[in-house]
Amino acid sequence: PAKLNVVFKPSGQSASVPRGTLITEAMLQAGIFLPLDCGGKGTCGRCLVSVRGEVSPPNQAEERLLDSEQLAGGWRLACQTQVLGSLEVAVPDTHESADSSWRIDQGDLEPVPMGSPVITAVECQAPEPTLQDPRGDLRRVLETLGEHEESPASRADLATAAGITRAAREHAWSLSLYQRGEELVGVAGPGQGPLGLAVDLGSTKLAAYLVDLATGEIIASRGRLNPQVAFGADVVTRLQLAISQPKEGRRLTDLVRRALNGLAQDLAAAVGADTGRIAEMSLVGNSAMTHLLLGLPLEQLGAPPFVACLDQAVDVKARELGLSLAPGAYVHLPPLVGGFVGADNVAMIMGADLDRPGPCRLGLDIGTNTEVVVTAPGHRHPLFIASAPSGPTFEGAHLSSGMRAMTGAISQVRLTAEQEPVCTTIDGSDPAGVCGSGIIDAVAEMLRAGVINSRGHLDRSLPQVRRDGRNISYVLVPAERSATGQDIVVTQADISQVQLAKAAICAAAATLLSLAGLEPSDLSEVVLAGSFGSHIDVDTAKRIGLIPAVAGAKYAQVGNAAGRGAQQVLNNLEARQRAAEIPAKARYVELSGEPLFNTLFARSLAFPEDGD
Ligand code: FES
Repeated sequence: PAKLNVVFKPSGQSASVPRGTLITEAMLQAGIFLPLDCGGKGTCGRCLVSVRGEVSPPNQAEERLLDSEQLAGGWRLACQTQVLGSLEVAVPDTHESADSSWRIDQGDLEPVPMGSPVITAVECQAPEPTLQDPRGDLRRVLETLGEHEESPASRADLATAAGITRAAREHAWSLSLYQRGEELVGVAGPGQGPLGLAVDLGSTKLAAYLVDLATGEIIASRGRLNPQVAFGADVVTRLQLAISQPKEGRRLTDLVRRALNGLAQDLAAAVGADTGRIAEMSLVGNSAMTHLLLGLPLEQLGAPPFVACLDQAVDVKARELGLSLAPGAYVHLPPLVGGFVGADNVAMIMGADLDRPGPCRLGLDIGTNTEVVVTAPGHRHPLFIASAPSGPTFEGAHLSSGMRAMTGAISQVRLTAEQEPVCTTIDGSDPAGVCGSGIIDAVAEMLRAGVINSRGHLDRSLPQVRRDGRNISYVLVPAERSATGQDIVVTQADISQVQLAKAAICAAAATLLSLAGLEPSDLSEVVLAGSFGSHIDVDTAKRIGLIPAVAGAKYAQVGNAAGRGAQQVLNNLEARQRAAEIPAKARYVELSGEPLFNTLFARSLAFPEDGD
């Protein structure tokens, strides 16, 4: 049967699909990765698009989420709507696609400390083969290197050997060889030193850093959306999908591998290099992300007791993962801690120095899953670790006017004496929605001004509080002043989301402190890692009880510590050893099996009263 053409606006990307295909499926084919927070179940409304052409009639899910005016105007949920004829689909620009990349915070770009390197480079001028000296190319190169005392190289795999043969003829036998212990893993022309790629593979974002391995300097960096967001915002949704439909699981694996290849190419191009010079890659991510990347079995990870296929450090050839780097390059993944707590946590602990001896500290990497670490000096396992199910609220998802931290997102809210909201957006453009730090700010201000009480209930007597059927909302920006033409609101349900998220984080920290026999007042430092934790206002976060308010404690915002950890293990054998020792120092606490967590969670739902 003839295929139907679907064109996406404004990008102009297109797909050719059989009749009956879902619009979200067509988007994937066209290379547009929309963050589908509900995983395409028709409940989150994040996939709202406007269509022109023949499509299936609205189903129940759409009728529940969209009003008749929106439906009449061609607005539809892409995850529920089938293509029935040639189609034009407008994707609102409050959505970001996985191709939108962003710059990484300057603070995360300090040079990487050098140590005993994983990769070293040697320059080699080998004699040309002759009839009298017809040694094979690899032997010729290895024997020439053997004359250099410092080179332990004694072997190379087939791909590297083939690379040497080609490069030798291209560069008249004058070569830069990249060695990893006794193995040659890459080759380039003379003077072209090895590069390394450190990657923080988050469930929402990928951050990649290209490092000059000779100096430790970060020479290029880039962040982009993890394209798997098109299959659900949280890892559990993706995991369940991959377990129930192995074909989709392979697709998730393939998507993230392609994204990594794309990042490697972009970064290498940014410095005028070839990806063949990337001799080593390090990657940190939670267990689900790394299992998906490596293509490992997932069933045992998806149900209690949540067991990893393997939890030790992994060194795997990049090409086995479909990554085009230097021909013999390896990808190094540090060890996992346990359950979903993966190498990203190990990297965060290293990046924030929480494994170094010191006083009692709390480390938080706030995200869809918040990594929580309490250091308990003197314990046999001095690192108490948990992963708190805080949900995607602070990514701006699941909020009625939520969006990610990007153009037009409200990041700051102040209430005047008359309780009129004054909103600031990230880049000063017209407000389009509220991002994670905006909702925290809004809730804290509403609490301060008495718009909500400590139980989170909106004061319905206020003129800014609207009631529409069962929905009660506080209007931050009325439709006529918003970029979307719709009211930007904080609903009672949004406030509950914030309460659930902050209660999970708070209760996780309190549970770990209690298990370590410590009190919150014992904390001498609270370390906030990750891009969200680094951008929030500490006092605001304390005011709503998102982080504990401890008199006399220091609060440090350390940037992307997981990315930093990935950089540290990239080319430093001591750092790899340090990472390998962390799981043995850690006591991993599975919160779902901890009754204390449930008790503390229920107690943490309310906001702190003044003076708490
Ligand atoms: Fe379509 Fe959630 S409603 S992805």
